[in-house]
Amino acid sequence: MIFYITGNDTGVGKTVLTATWTRYLRDRGHRVVALKPLASGGRTDPRLLWESAGRIIPLDEVNPWWFRAPIAPAAAARRIGLRIELPRVVQHVQRLAQQFEIVLVEGAGGLLSPLGTNFDNRDLMQALQARPIVVVPNRLGAVNQTRLVCEALAGTQLPRPHCVLVNQPHHHPAIRTHAELLASYLPQNALHFFPWLRTFPDSLRRAIPPAIRNALTGLTTAVLKDTGDPRTHEG
Ligand SMILES: Nc1ncnc2c1ncn2[C@@H]1O[C@H](COP(=O)(O)OP(=O)(O)OP(=O)(O)O)[C@@H](O)[C@H]1O
Ligand SMILES: [Mg+2]
Repeated sequence: MIFYITGNDTGVGKTVLTATWTRYLRDRGHRVVALKPLASGGRTDPRLLWESAGRIIPLDEVNPWWFRAPIAPAAAARRIGLRIELPRVVQHVQRLAQQFEIVLVEGAGGLLSPLGTNFDNRDLMQALQARPIVVVPNRLGAVNQTRLVCEALAGTQLPRPHCVLVNQPHHHPAIRTHAELLASYLPQNALHFFPWLRTFPDSLRRAIPPAIRNALTGLTTAVLKDTGDPRTHEG
């Protein structure tokens, strides 16, 4: 099964969640791999995902397309005259999905960021029939941001998104209202909260702290339940 980790923007915590979740799933005995098929601004994200999955496949398979320029992958590719076609990316991810029980795909930028020749993260997610995980920082404005992304997914045939609000180091009083407001606006969408990790990425090398493990257990249980997977308890 393929989960696609997207968000309302760049820099919102997709890699932190994907890498930590990969490590957690490995600890639980799942055969898991994390991919960042398209990356720009260097290869930091792919390397973190590669490490989190125990380097189980080569880095070039975690991330076949990458660009130094810190701009949307579609723009970076165009700049050097490269065409990145959607079917090639889909084929790459699907091949790995046949070898692994769980594939976590981290998108680039936010949901509608341009990835390649006439496709964005939403198009790729749809072509893969992946399950959307929407990451949004849990700060003032998070209700608007979450609703915008979920509305942009509502017109697709994709499974219902799981939204992950990433708690910030400084809590704003507004965040206490978010669970209730989002439950009323998005009753079909599952809502999760993910803690701020003071020691990321060092924490990837140590045992996962209990607060983070609990959050990931909740997320895993909920997403596996949606897929009909019987292993909904912590293994
Ligand atoms: N849960 C978290 N705990 C601690 N730090 C976090 C967390 N989420 C995000 N950060 C901080 O925010 C930065 C950006 O997060 P991250 O790299 O995960 O964003 P992203 O959505 O993957 O960005 P990109 O669009 O570049 O892929 C991280 O380097 C980290 O410093
Ligand atoms: Mg990232």
